[in-house]
Amino acid sequence: MSLGFPITLGEPLAVVMVGLPARGKTYIARKLARYVSWLGYSARVFNVGNYRRGRYGAAVPHSFFDPNNPEGMAKREAVAVAALDDMLTWFKGGGHIGIYDATNNSRARRAMVRERLEGAGCRVLFIETICDDPAIIQANIRQTKVSAPDYADTDAEAAISDFRARIAHYEASYEPIDEVDVSFVKLIEVDHQAITQRLQGYVVGRIAHFVMNLHITPRTIWLTRHGQSTANVAGLIGTDMPLTSRGAQYAENLSTFFAKRNKGPVEIWTSTLQRSVQTGSALGRPTTPLKVLDEIDAGICDGMSYSQIESQMPGEFTRRKADKLRYRYPRGESYEDVIHRLDPLIIELERQREPVLIVGHQAILRALIGYLMDQPRAEVPHIDVPLHTVVALTPRAYGCEEERFELGP
Ligand code: SIN
Repeated sequence: MSLGFPITLGEPLAVVMVGLPARGKTYIARKLARYVSWLGYSARVFNVGNYRRGRYGAAVPHSFFDPNNPEGMAKREAVAVAALDDMLTWFKGGGHIGIYDATNNSRARRAMVRERLEGAGCRVLFIETICDDPAIIQANIRQTKVSAPDYADTDAEAAISDFRARIAHYEASYEPIDEVDVSFVKLIEVDHQAITQRLQGYVVGRIAHFVMNLHITPRTIWLTRHGQSTANVAGLIGTDMPLTSRGAQYAENLSTFFAKRNKGPVEIWTSTLQRSVQTGSALGRPTTPLKVLDEIDAGICDGMSYSQIESQMPGEFTRRKADKLRYRYPRGESYEDVIHRLDPLIIELERQREPVLIVGHQAILRALIGYLMDQPRAEVPHIDVPLHTVVALTPRAYGCEEERFELGP
């Protein structure tokens, strides 16, 4: 199966999560789905807990998960198979990367899952999360479980106590992966250690690399376009023109705003283009210019206005309008190209523990916001990113919260 990029999948890929409850499986599953969708694969998470809630109701007591409760075991097996079968049907319909989000904590369960998936012609990659740090487990329970539908009408302390009893049932039957013939990434204590086995191929490698760089330290990612440039005033795309006096004033406003909002350390990344470097330098802190952040390459249209393109190259204008995501400027780039160019930056962004301020460009920020806010790819070229506005994205349990600040002038 070719995706039109130097990334190919020979067969559908099933990513199978493994681990005790409250070890970040759903967090990783959702982030991974967001990442690979952004890269252009069709991806979907199949969460067995959702099937269980759908079939038996959300509020099942911890005894439901007791391995000595045959009725509970049979019901759990039934929903595990239902989710798996739906994933297989979805693969048959053309799905590329399915993420099977469940505990899968016994060898027998993993063997069943693998047999069904491989029997249907899928590749299988296990991702196991192992974490014994009580502080991380407690934080995870508080952030994601107490507010989960399972405990909608339950007082927080009772919810925590029931969930801990549920974990104890899983611990009683947990067998960490030791199968020698499977592909896996084991993530130990979040990002303290990663063990891999039998990883092959580009896509599996990308996925392993991505999950190995994830962490759970919350920090805000600040995004802004450069201040107004002389090309903005003239309505020209691309170019490498300097800031206007209004743009320079925005850079000052940004510096004042940022000094108040972020007093601690921060990574500031600019592009290598003048308008971005000038805006970043007004902050009076060290900045890192990165070529990967340069604006979309408009090729032979660089320095033209949209009305010039429409009158002088009507075919290009129409093709771009019809599919802004895939349209590639002659000898330049498409939004899709920009997304692939930014892939290494996403890994660096995920890895960073400190807040990051990116002083970028419209197409670049659209692509980054598309990833961070989990927007459908086709929407990426249409995300609103006005000049002289700061976008603050702060990670929450399973996504990001967005705030916008218009700083003028
Ligand atoms: C659940 O029912 O919440 C999870 C089922 C499992 O993966 O064990």
